[in-house]
Parts: sequence; C-alpha cells; structure tokens
Amino acid sequence: MPYRSGRHFLQIPGPTNVPDRVLRAIDKATMDHRGPEFGKMGLEILEGLKAVFQTQAPVVIYPASGTGAWEAALVNTLSPGDRVLMFETGHFASLWNKMAAKLGISVDFIPTDWRRGVDPAAVEAKLKEDREHRIKAVCVVHNETSTGVTCRIAAIRRAIDAAKHPALYMVDTISSLASIDYRHDEWGVDVTVAGSQKGLMLPPGLSFNAVSEKARKASQSAKLPRSYWAWDEMLSNNKTGAGSPVRGARGVFELAHRGDDARRPRRRRAAQDHSRSLRYVARDRARKTRGKGFPDRAPRRLQRSDARRHARRR
Ligand SMILES: Cc1ncc(COP(=O)(O)O)c(C=O)c1O
Repeated sequence: MPYRSGRHFLQIPGPTNVPDRVLRAIDKATMDHRGPEFGKMGLEILEGLKAVFQTQAPVVIYPASGTGAWEAALVNTLSPGDRVLMFETGHFASLWNKMAAKLGISVDFIPTDWRRGVDPAAVEAKLKEDREHRIKAVCVVHNETSTGVTCRIAAIRRAIDAAKHPALYMVDTISSLASIDYRHDEWGVDVTVAGSQKGLMLPPGLSFNAVSEKARKASQSAKLPRSYWAWDEMLSNNKTGAGSPVRGARGVFELAHRGDDARRPRRRRAAQDHSRSLRYVARDRARKTRGKGFPDRAPRRLQRSDARRHARRR
C-alpha cells in the first residue's frame, strides 16, 4: 500500500468530513435511550433542527440513510396507484422515481438532459392539465448531487400555487440542507427529506422528514403499507424526546446533539464552501461526460486548496 502522510481529507460529495469536536463527542459511555438524559437531549435536538430546516413544523428523525427518508415521505402520504410528478434532473431524481414505481405509485417522470433544474413553467403546465387533481405530489431534488444542479424551490411552489393545485410538495435536501439556503415553511414545502452526512457534517446514519400540517393530514388517509417509517409513532415519541421507537444510531443521535451548530455562521460557511467546490467538480465532470457522469474525483488543484481551507476551519 502506498505510504500516505498526514490526515486523509475526503473529497467526495458526501459523507463529508466530520469536525473533530463532533467526532470526540462519541467517546462516552452508552446512554439509556429510554432514560431522562436521552429524552432531554432528544428534545434539544428536535428544537434545534427546526432552525436548520427553517420551520415550525415537527421533524421526524430516522436511524436510516437518506433513501429511508425518501421512502418515509412517500409511504406516509400516498396510496397505491396515486400519481406523482417527478423530474429527471439527475441520478438521485431517477432513483427516487424507481423507488416510487416499486411502491406501486404511478410516476409522471419528466425527462431532462441532466443539465438544468426543474422548470417551474413545466410544473405549472402539467398541474393545469390535471383538472381532476389526480397528481397527489410534486417531488423535486433541491440539489442534484450527481450534477451540481440546484432547483428553485420557491419558484416551483409559486408554480403549484399558480395552477391552484392541491398536490403535496416534497423536496429532497439530502445534499443541500445546511449547505444551500433552504426554507421549509416560507417555501411551502410539505415534506422535506434530509440526511445527516452532508451539510450537517455528521456521519451517515440519520435521516429526516420535516412534515407540514397538510402532509400530516394526508398521512391519516394514505393507504401505502408502513410500519418502520410511520410518522404517527415517531411524532408521539418526539413529545418526550425519545424520537424513534427503535434503538438504532444512538451514537449518531448523540453526535447530532453535540454537533448541532450547523446553523452557526462559521459552520454554515464551511459547509457552503464544501458544497460550492463539489458543485464545481460535479459540473466539470458532467460537462466532460455529456451530463451522465459522477463527481468521483476532484481535480488536484481543487483538492489541495480546499484541503487547506478546511484544515484552517477545524
Ligand atoms: C440528493 C441525494 N438524494 C438522495 C441520496 C441518497 O441518500 P443515502 O445514500 O443516504 O441513502 C443522496 C446520496 O448521496 C443524495 O445526494
């Protein structure tokens, strides 16, 4: 194996590098996940997360990867055969489409060339065509990690409103939350899907749904089978700070608490910087591979300067 001096600085879109202070927080005896200490921590995390999502709505935390939170968003709100509107903005939007199809949801999947985000005018036109309101949700990936394309979430909301359509609005913020400006309430999003391993600069293993009142109401009549992902039990456990009724990811949960400063300006700047450089890499790669490529390796120059910048911020 080649000798490598110094610390390895990971240069992939995520998981991102975890700050030392957060890493050290795990070095602690196991905590009783049903005890008062955990409950107190849980309540603080749940409150703190609202600022990260810019919402007053409840946030559900899953011991799961981001893909789990996608599934949670769909199964809690939809019924078999429901139609949803999705856009092929890149690799992750395509995977979300595949998942929806596997769950028995009928997807109107609008193709693109992977070089642009969702066109709000196309959303408005599609929804205006749907006079019987068969489309139950519009699902958009905020930042397409595979291409670096970022969608205009507020403009898409305005398009849904202009069409006077009642569809739910679901947004994947797995690589944008805490990296790119995101406002769940102001932008009228019903379900925000997020993960721990990118802008929040935590290890992978936690994922999130921020859930509007409209989405919670839809979940009462949604018929897709769900158990692990069901919001109702999670939301009632949130009242005591216990969160998930299962025991997974206690360590990461705790890290989330100790590292819960993603909303502080310095931390946010570091994450935004990281995200900007990755977007540059992604765009460069996408250009070279005619839009179908992955940002698997950054150019040398970018790696070095970035590593220095991030090292200073540790
Ligand atoms: C935009 C986006 N959506 C979804 C996912 C899938 O998340 P996970 O790998 O945590 O399941 C990723 C992962 O990189 C992503 O970047």
